[in-house]
Amino acid sequence: MRGDSQRQVRIRAGQLERARFFGIVPSMKHHRGFILAIDGPAGSGKSTTARLCAERLGFRHLDTGAMYRALTLKALRTGTIIGNPRPLFALLQRTSVRVAWDKRGMRTFLDEKDVSEEIRSPEVSALVSEVSAISAVRLRMVVEQRRVASGKAVVCEGRDIGSVVFPDADLKIFIECDAAERARRRQLELAGQGVCTGRETVLANLVGRDRIDSGREVSPLRRMPDAVLIDTTHLTIQEQVSIVCDLARRRCMWFKMQSARCRMTDRR
Ligand code: DC
Repeated sequence: MRGDSQRQVRIRAGQLERARFFGIVPSMKHHRGFILAIDGPAGSGKSTTARLCAERLGFRHLDTGAMYRALTLKALRTGTIIGNPRPLFALLQRTSVRVAWDKRGMRTFLDEKDVSEEIRSPEVSALVSEVSAISAVRLRMVVEQRRVASGKAVVCEGRDIGSVVFPDADLKIFIECDAAERARRRQLELAGQGVCTGRETVLANLVGRDRIDSGREVSPLRRMPDAVLIDTTHLTIQEQVSIVCDLARRRCMWFKMQSARCRMTDRR
């Protein structure tokens, strides 16, 4: 019962935030749908920023990396060879990966089982870049990402969101951060989870993933010309969140003004 009432309060808070964001009269284009795309390298604070921005705006948080992680988990469980696209493609044919939201936020389902925690293991992290570099895998995931976000107010994060998944996103953010600072943050995060790893090892892992994510042929990580660049090396998470939320609110305001102008022109 208590859980139910807490859930109700959270849902109402989310609705209120969304109403604040869109205003009483939403723009014609954005009838309460809005895609905020956040791309950037591993460890740049992208995921935390996306999650907190979604909470603050009353949007849903779509972490696309989780979907690639889920397929990697299945490959590990079934002993599928990851370096070869063929067996992986066959595996993809008999695998379902989907996301849904509940009171805890976004949940990731592999063959209808919630694997949101398991996909964060170091074994999955070590192999996911190779799995996500395969074009057949990307094609499937992108279809699901577009389907699940359709018509919703979503903060979507990944590597190819502004370039491939939502090239018409309402606001695109590209997050950058010095590699040494990213390694420092990731090491702290791992220590918080009870995993002690040397700074050099963490840095090598991040740099290795950057190389694969930015150097692959399909949908490499890159900044789009219309993305707002935010360097978070010297910013706190709260500062990053405030900057992104302010940009989103301003963008929405601008759309509303355009919409009002169109309505006035139509009446003349
Ligand atoms: O954000 P993350 O660390 O959970 O992402 C896991 C991997 O998936 C990472 O190597 C990059 C890849 N990825 C991708 O290629 N495209 C996305 N849209 C999201 C993640």
